[in-house]
Amino acid sequence: MPINAIKLTPLVGSELKLEGEALLSGDYRDEIRQLLVQRGVLIVRDLELSDQQQRQFTATLGDLRLGTVSKEGDEGLMKVTLDQKNNPEYADFFPGTMFWHMDGTYDATPPFATVLRPIVIAPEGGQTEFANTYAAYEALSAEQKARVDTLQVVHSMQAAMFHACPEADLEQIQRWCSYPTRTHPLVWEHKSGRKSLALSTSCSHIPGMAPVDSFEFLQDLLRHATQPQFVYRHEWRPNDLLIWDNTGTMHRGRPYAADSGRLMHRFTLNGEEPIRAVA
Ligand code: OGA
Ligand code: MN
Repeated sequence: MPINAIKLTPLVGSELKLEGEALLSGDYRDEIRQLLVQRGVLIVRDLELSDQQQRQFTATLGDLRLGTVSKEGDEGLMKVTLDQKNNPEYADFFPGTMFWHMDGTYDATPPFATVLRPIVIAPEGGQTEFANTYAAYEALSAEQKARVDTLQVVHSMQAAMFHACPEADLEQIQRWCSYPTRTHPLVWEHKSGRKSLALSTSCSHIPGMAPVDSFEFLQDLLRHATQPQFVYRHEWRPNDLLIWDNTGTMHRGRPYAADSGRLMHRFTLNGEEPIRAVA
């Protein structure tokens, strides 16, 4: 039986009506992957999953990203929180998640998808928004498409973090600069043949363009891509499970208090294809 999927907005986001057992079985893998790249973000509500079940479900969809280990030793689990005590290694980076971004643009092959589950929800703010970058590309004029199709853009951790931490000290800046920069095409022609804008707050500049022009161009494109018709805002409820396609959306967290205790548990899938320029 096909999955019962309900559109949350016309262009982005669907809610799936699925029981935990069905999700974990892997039986719906292909259908979920297909819906994910069509709709950008999928929600399943009212599930009571453990970390282990969240990991197991994520792994049904692709190649689980290992490498990060939480303080308690859970491999692959990333605790998304501003609380240093809960995530000493990464808490400093999460203020950067409040600006529109794709994850992992410093890698040749950005992660495919991420599965997020709320553990502590902020009493105010802390929603997560998703913008469909396939739809944003599609909505450009033929002239605009012809132009963006030819451009490349440099991504850097410094560009991504500077908005969130404009008063960073030298040590922080050195840490950001220790990440390699990466040049990607601005338009991603996926293996499927569909095209999306590979935009993110990590976009530093367009090589070969005068700095002011590059800044203005990227700002305009970001404004275009995050218009309300391309965006779904998720209001978190306990026992939600949310999956986003990191290759065809941008996302951002809305501001929340650092002392709110907000905590999300995250598992990520490795990327399956590099950002490839339009042929
Ligand atoms: C992330 C992220 C946003 C949020 O985990 O990559 O950007 O709302 N999270 O926590
Ligand atoms: Mn992110």
